[in-house]
Amino acid sequence: MSTAGIHAGWSDTDCHRSMTPPIYATSAYSHPDHASLRDLFARRSEGFAYSRSGNPTTRVLEERIAALEGGIDAVAVASGQAATTIALCALAAPGGHVVASSRLYGGTTELLDDTLADFGVTATIVDPWDLEAWEAAFTENTRAALVESIANPGAQLVDLDALSEIAHRFDVPVVVDSTLASPALYRPGDHGADVVVHSATKYLCGHGTTLAGLIVDTGRFDPRRCPERWERLTTPNRRFGVTFADEYAQGRSGLLAFARAKYVTDFGTTLPAASAQQILVGIETLDLRVRKISADAAALAGRLHADPAVAAVHHPSIPGRPDAQIAARDFPHGTSGVFAIDLDGGEEAAAAFCDALSLWSIAVNIGDARSLVCHPATTTHCHLSDAQREACGVGAGTVRLSVGLEDLDDLWADLSRGLQAARTVQEAAAVGAA
Ligand SMILES: Cc1ncc(COP(=O)(O)O)c(C=O)c1O
Repeated sequence: MSTAGIHAGWSDTDCHRSMTPPIYATSAYSHPDHASLRDLFARRSEGFAYSRSGNPTTRVLEERIAALEGGIDAVAVASGQAATTIALCALAAPGGHVVASSRLYGGTTELLDDTLADFGVTATIVDPWDLEAWEAAFTENTRAALVESIANPGAQLVDLDALSEIAHRFDVPVVVDSTLASPALYRPGDHGADVVVHSATKYLCGHGTTLAGLIVDTGRFDPRRCPERWERLTTPNRRFGVTFADEYAQGRSGLLAFARAKYVTDFGTTLPAASAQQILVGIETLDLRVRKISADAAALAGRLHADPAVAAVHHPSIPGRPDAQIAARDFPHGTSGVFAIDLDGGEEAAAAFCDALSLWSIAVNIGDARSLVCHPATTTHCHLSDAQREACGVGAGTVRLSVGLEDLDDLWADLSRGLQAARTVQEAAAVGAA
């Protein structure tokens, strides 16, 4: 993991022996003759023509994340949201059905509910801890199953081996948003996932500087097993003049070749080369950062659990969590720096808690080197219905924490000030009620 994070996808054999991948700041690539560019467009050769569909710096990132996830290929895109959108469009648009976890980042729930619905994609939302409901949700038309390996914001873990086994019985590929886990903590492909998506904006970047998304093909999905179902991949494509599934015979991803040629190129959701380079630098320290952050998050979760101002702590280490066994079995290095707390006193207590903090920033990002808090009900999950928020464990008093790289005791001292402010609101409410 640490070695691939530094070296995969790049060796200093470019013309200047640059040790780190240079930023190829170019829109297009010149070709030695007419035939060379023509063959590239006809998909008879490989290379770069125009940076909307591929760039050498971005390609290093794609190869590196494919190596880290143990996959056969990857595509980099402009954001995590673009990664989920394109993965689901490639599998389920137009008109397919998706079985999706009830515990997803709010933006993903909105994407399923609204924008993908515009493409005729329908979704059944299921609690991924309820395996019977998960199984019952699959239909003849299901084209993808979607879960987060560690859910945002409540850090609930999924038994991916069990969920994948059910999905594969219906010949449905499993897409895992592994943003919170990152390959430093968990490789979904080792537990049955067919496609992994990342918001690389978070831990892969690690410093809150850059938006990016990644889609990885783990090499399990083969549309040739059900050719009629995946006819966009298994029959000659009129527009591109190839059958994308033929890529699998060469050990490459037909799904990602299709996603890049059609959706990345048409939607223009390209990752800039400078952004790819930022993510590559971030990945070099991923392993070290994520292990420290995960350990500090577990320590803070324990201290918060012991404080009477906190009604609940949503972290897998808290006694009574149904996913404790999954944590012990599948997450030996921790479960990231993201978790949530519930404060009695609703939004007023949550606001007092956040406003009393000075080291923690009030911001909607996660996975930064800086520690961040936000109130999901009025920010990341504000467009959801009450029922949708309840299903993913977001209440009026829920605060999401994203632990950064600062000193643990400094972080706790600041949280203690937040808890004191929340207690003041709770006590005033209790006096008012009396
Ligand atoms: C789990 C998860 N997936 C996807 C996204 C979307 O990523 P981006 O903001 O890079 O588009 C986020 C953003 O917070 C997220 O937390």
